[in-house]
Amino acid sequence: MSQLKYAVIGLQFGMAHIEGAMDCGAEIAAICDCNEDHLRAAGERYAIAAEKRFTDYRELVARSDLDAVVIAVPDQQHRAMSCAFLEAGKHVLCEKPMALSREDVSAMIRAADVSGRQLMIGQICRFTPAFEKAKSLVESGVLGDVYYLESEYAHDYMKIVDNWRADPLRHGVIGGGCHAVDLLRWLAGDPREVFAYGTHRLLPQVPYDDATIAVMKFDDNTMGKVFVSTGCKRDYTMRTVIYGTKGTLICDNTSPTMTLFTVGPDGMAHEPEILEVEVNNHNAKREFETFDASIRRGKPVLTNAREGAKTVEVCLSIIESAKTGAPVRPDYALYTT
Ligand SMILES: NC(=O)c1ccc[n+]([C@@H]2O[C@H](COP(=O)([O-])OP(=O)(O)OC[C@H]3O[C@@H](n4cnc5c(N)ncnc54)[C@H](O)[C@@H]3O)[C@@H](O)[C@H]2O)c1
Repeated sequence: MSQLKYAVIGLQFGMAHIEGAMDCGAEIAAICDCNEDHLRAAGERYAIAAEKRFTDYRELVARSDLDAVVIAVPDQQHRAMSCAFLEAGKHVLCEKPMALSREDVSAMIRAADVSGRQLMIGQICRFTPAFEKAKSLVESGVLGDVYYLESEYAHDYMKIVDNWRADPLRHGVIGGGCHAVDLLRWLAGDPREVFAYGTHRLLPQVPYDDATIAVMKFDDNTMGKVFVSTGCKRDYTMRTVIYGTKGTLICDNTSPTMTLFTVGPDGMAHEPEILEVEVNNHNAKREFETFDASIRRGKPVLTNAREGAKTVEVCLSIIESAKTGAPVRPDYALYTT
């Protein structure tokens, strides 16, 4: 299939997608933002002609010359917008989290299934060089059997939370913490059970906990932990540690190095190897490139609707556990049919 025609909707984080698309040489046939200032700013910044700028996404739904859209609007609108474009026969790359409820993600899966179009969820950590490297090291067996892994999402939202992010449904575990949850799922599979505690000390403007710790159990008694803090007083990090029977890997999407411990002939870990890695924690180019290549070649996208939905399912289970004080078993059956 030849080059595809794209629209990008929502022009704040969406600008990273425009850049990703441009870096890949893809055609941006339209951009859209209901805020005229944002629309103009993005149009001027990327030299996108006035006739390709729209304030109402519904005008784009009806257009027959668009192949695919990137949706980067507030999470609460992901369902309506994704379903509208899928039903109109467009492929969709929708920002994470896929949506904020089981009902919404189920509706999005149905829309993708019925339309036969692809819906990819932008779990961008799967394109972060340090995490791609971690995935390949796990798969190479150099760490042996992974028996425990942890990831933290620490990001101070103090200045960005007085808007749609303060919706009770947009809990920090699902909003930002979905990155760490998705990363653990990518590396270790679907957790069978989660148990969580939460606390609320730093962000009085949100109606949910701003720090949560969740432990989880995967198949074969592999254990995991996710820590999410959206009020933390530190710089952004997604420090991640993977413990295996033959080695340990410490990495972070904000660090240019990764630390790899492996065992010597005596079964002990010796001097660690320091691996250099590119720092690129929002690798929109690789994400876009992967989406575009999958559509053009008719191959399944990496993080499809069911993958995105399972990450939401684990996040909702963590939130529920922290609220009830009881362990919760994520119900993946909702997304397997
Ligand atoms: N992958 C990542 O690491 C990452 C990072 C940031 C944001 N995000 C996700 O991207 C999405 C957008 O986040 P953001 O930080 O850009 O939010 P934002 O509030 O800063 O910007 C949203 C933009 O969408 C526009 N918009 C809202 N409703 C619209 C509509 N109906 N039609 C057209 N435009 C509309 C707004 O005017 C605004 O310009 C969210 O889903 C968020 O979770 C992902």
